[in-house]
Amino acid sequence: MPTLLLHFLLFLITTTVTNLIPAVHSNCIEAQQQSLLHFKQSLEFDSSESSKLITWNSSTECCAWLGVTCSTIGSVVGLDISNESISCSIDNSSSLFQLQHLQSLNLADNNFKSSSIPSAIGKLTELRYLNLMLSGQGSDWCEAISSSLPNLRVLSLSGCRLSGPICDSLAKLQSLQEIDLSLNQLNGSIPSSVVSLPKLERLTLSHNRFSGQVPEFSNTSSPLFDTLYLENNNLEGQIPTSIFNLHGLLFLNLSSNNFSGFPFNGPRLPRNLSSVNLSNNSMLFDYNGSKSSFLQIRHLILASNKLRAFPDFLRNQSILYHLDLSNNQI
Ligand SMILES: *[C@@H]1O[C@H](CO)[C@@H](O)[C@H](O)[C@H]1NC(C)=O
Ligand SMILES: *[C@@H]1O[C@H](CO)[C@@H](O)[C@H](O)[C@H]1NC(C)=O
Ligand SMILES: *[C@@H]1O[C@H](CO)[C@@H](O)[C@H](O)[C@H]1NC(C)=O
Ligand SMILES: *[C@@H]1O[C@H](CO)[C@@H](O)[C@H](O)[C@H]1NC(C)=O
Ligand SMILES: *[C@@H]1O[C@H](CO)[C@@H](O)[C@H](O)[C@H]1NC(C)=O
Ligand SMILES: *[C@@H]1O[C@H](CO)[C@@H](O)[C@H](O)[C@H]1NC(C)=O
Ligand SMILES: *[C@@H]1O[C@H](CO)[C@@H](O)[C@H](O)[C@H]1NC(C)=O
Ligand SMILES: *[C@@H]1O[C@H](CO)[C@@H](O)[C@H](O)[C@H]1NC(C)=O
Ligand SMILES: *[C@@H]1O[C@H](CO)[C@@H](O)[C@H](O)[C@H]1NC(C)=O
Ligand SMILES: *[C@@H]1O[C@H](CO)[C@@H](O)[C@H](O)[C@H]1NC(C)=O
Ligand SMILES: *[C@@H]1O[C@H](CO)[C@@H](O)[C@H](O)[C@H]1NC(C)=O
Ligand SMILES: *[C@@H]1O[C@H](CO)[C@@H](O)[C@H](O)[C@H]1NC(C)=O
Repeated sequence: MPTLLLHFLLFLITTTVTNLIPAVHSNCIEAQQQSLLHFKQSLEFDSSESSKLITWNSSTECCAWLGVTCSTIGSVVGLDISNESISCSIDNSSSLFQLQHLQSLNLADNNFKSSSIPSAIGKLTELRYLNLMLSGQGSDWCEAISSSLPNLRVLSLSGCRLSGPICDSLAKLQSLQEIDLSLNQLNGSIPSSVVSLPKLERLTLSHNRFSGQVPEFSNTSSPLFDTLYLENNNLEGQIPTSIFNLHGLLFLNLSSNNFSGFPFNGPRLPRNLSSVNLSNNSMLFDYNGSKSSFLQIRHLILASNKLRAFPDFLRNQSILYHLDLSNNQI
């Protein structure tokens, strides 16, 4: 009975949460062990810098190797070979793509030579977490991911030298909970289909070249959408009042853009935000005596804007803890 319960709990965890249970050492499926050994052989890496790949050898079984996570029945479901000084490329024929039960793949912080994401990644249909270090131009990288990884929950492609726009079809990945595309050279406008993904909780598009206005936010957004980081882009205009359609919003960093307004007098119901960073924009606030505000903010950074008067909405702030109005024209 306890064993059954344990298996049931593990089943729940493995099927509902991204599977990362390193403590489970089941017997590795032989074919998967061979695929991993072939994959290792195909990689160029500096063994003096490696801490995980060096533990992969046939004298132990693969579920015990560092960086490898298995399911209870011995399928390889997680692979983390980030920061292993890998310097080659991965192509369509890599044995990596034989690991068909892979749910989580982390290849970040390596020096891959490939210039694009191999389309064979589409064979990994169960993938839910993807963290790469690769580069890509145009929207090919985006179309490749959108058309091949329907179950993806976490997409992290930070600092990958990606350029071009985010494609609309990224919104086909309806399970996405977290998107981090920061520190790239992405441009164009931010697609409204992406900010409206129904399960999205965290969107980080900082340090890119996005321009134009922030799109309207859907009133069907997830109540768990709590983090929006758009700092260091070329975005402009007013932040739409529909931002309060994100009912769970807590952390907002819009600094270092060219925004001219924020709906501080916007929501008609009481709302608390933890942190709003609007520094280094072109905020003016000419609400002319609109003292009424239901919005309560804990940390508010309005430094380096174009304020000419003390903003009236600040008179009705009861949880304010940190306020920065430096470098304005008050
Ligand atoms: C990457 O590996 C090097 C050693 O090879 C280590 O010094 C460094 O802390 C690692 N970085 C991360 C982010 O784990
Ligand atoms: C295989 O890896 C283990 C550590 O996981 C190590 O102790 C052992 O020496 C390795 N064997 C060979 C032949 O490299
Ligand atoms: C992978 O294979 C597809 C066809 O199956 C081809 O169009 C694509 O160029 C290949 N990509 C790479 C990086 O080899
Ligand atoms: C995005 O950048 C590319 C060059 O990387 C350029 O050709 C294209 O015109 C830019 N698009 C926009 C909307 O700025
Ligand atoms: C959401 O917006 C649509 C129009 O865009 C409207 O018809 C609908 O009533 C709104 N739903 C809620 C819950 O506000
Ligand atoms: C944006 O805000 C978050 C916290 O709200 C902070 O961690 C991050 O460093 C900020 N980014 C910049 C560029 O200040
Ligand atoms: C706000 O953003 C500015 C500019 O990006 C940054 O220097 C500052 O540290 C940020 N402050 C907070 C509290 O995140
Ligand atoms: C202010 O924002 C601009 C982009 O809008 C950026 O180039 C500049 O470095 C930022 N300045 C500071 C002090 O963060
Ligand atoms: C910022 O936006 C204002 C209009 O609100 C415009 O006049 C100004 O040129 C913009 N600045 C930059 C650096 O794009
Ligand atoms: C906002 O914060 C205050 C003080 O912490 C709390 O009493 C209030 O219930 C919060 N309101 C909402 C809508 O979360
Ligand atoms: C605010 O009021 C002043 C004079 O009372 C007027 O000149 C200005 O246009 C008003 N601004 C707005 C945005 O209504
Ligand atoms: C001030 O904020 C509180 C809490 O959100 C709200 O109940 C009250 O009506 C507001 N007062 C004004 C004048 O806006």
